Amino acid sequence: MKYKIAVAGSGLMGSGIAQVCATYGNEVILYDLTEALLNKARIKIENSLSKLYEKKKIDESEKDILKRLATSSDLKDFSKVDVVIEAITENEKIKLEFFANIDQICPKSAIFASNTSSISITKLGGVTKRPDKICGMHFMNPVPIMKLVELIRGLATSDETFKKVLNLAQALNKETIVAQDRAGFAINRILVPMINEAVWALHDGVATKEDIDKGMKLGCNHPMGPLELADFVGLDTALAICEVLYRDLGDPKYRPCPLLRKYVEAGWNGRKSGRGFYVYEKI
Ligand code: CAA
Ligand code: NAD
Repeated sequence: MKYKIAVAGSGLMGSGIAQVCATYGNEVILYDLTEALLNKARIKIENSLSKLYEKKKIDESEKDILKRLATSSDLKDFSKVDVVIEAITENEKIKLEFFANIDQICPKSAIFASNTSSISITKLGGVTKRPDKICGMHFMNPVPIMKLVELIRGLATSDETFKKVLNLAQALNKETIVAQDRAGFAINRILVPMINEAVWALHDGVATKEDIDKGMKLGCNHPMGPLELADFVGLDTALAICEVLYRDLGDPKYRPCPLLRKYVEAGWNGRKSGRGFYVYEKI
């Protein structure tokens, strides 16, 4: 079944999610706050699609796929969609406000999926009049390459909604796992404390950043070292997840490392801002 899907947030994740949804035949509206952000996302999607087409990893050319992808900075364009996939900044207040707003605009039948890394799906559904129609749909970065989507049911998520979101993930050629609606779900409950611990190791002078990353790559066969991965995810996002784990699980072992906080305060948010633990020439 093909849907009309609005993807909200055109950053690292939203651009990838919109790309994959369009690749598998859905009509997509990619939404963000400004046209400049949307133009940047469109270029990124074009580049990714042309790379995949060249390598024969997709059957249709980028030109054909992009015919199914529109962009918009006007929430009124959500008035006829079947599904919204939310991938805006990892900030509870912003997400709650967003869901309350789109609840007024979208058709009553529309399903809301959130790509949040850590925030309660039940809480997000609670600000809408359709808590039965919201589900966690947690894609992995980079979305066009990574095989997994983690699915999370809120307390009120109906079986029908869960099945539709599961079917959609499978129609996007993804494998799925299911996690409970607890802070960080399964993936980030495990991954983010590892990243945070790597920052603590750097902070405590246990090893250099290069050796921490080399150690985990060559010693544990991780595709990226944890500090390199933190830069890839976005240090602002990694810190936001850490803070949700620390607050909601109430255990001091999740305390974000002050060095991570300092980097975010400096605007050194990783690859997307040109600097994190490492410096990047091309953003
Ligand atoms: N679009 C199209 N192709 C892409 C792409 C994109 N966005 N990103 C990478 N690729 C392609 C490359 O072109 C390359 O293709 P070929 O093998 O055909 O040449 C392939 O993917 C591998 O890329 P690279 O050679 O550049 O580099 P690599 O071998 O190091 O792989 C990687 C890159 C797949 C990202 C790999 O480093 C990796 O798996 N890193 C870990 C990623 C990870 O852990 N993601 C989860 C993050 S956490 C998360 O998502 C949850 C959260 O809530 C924070
Ligand atoms: P990002 O910073 O790259 O992009 C966020 C986008 O949201 C920006 O373009 C911003 O302009 C937009 N935005 C902010 N407020 C908005 C609003 N009110 N309406 C519409 N757009 C708004 O962040 P990202 O890495 O793409 O993360 C997006 C979501 O995906 C977060 O919930 C994050 O936790 C989750 N996530 C991230 C990763 C990752 O590796 N970065 C992986 C899985 C899930």
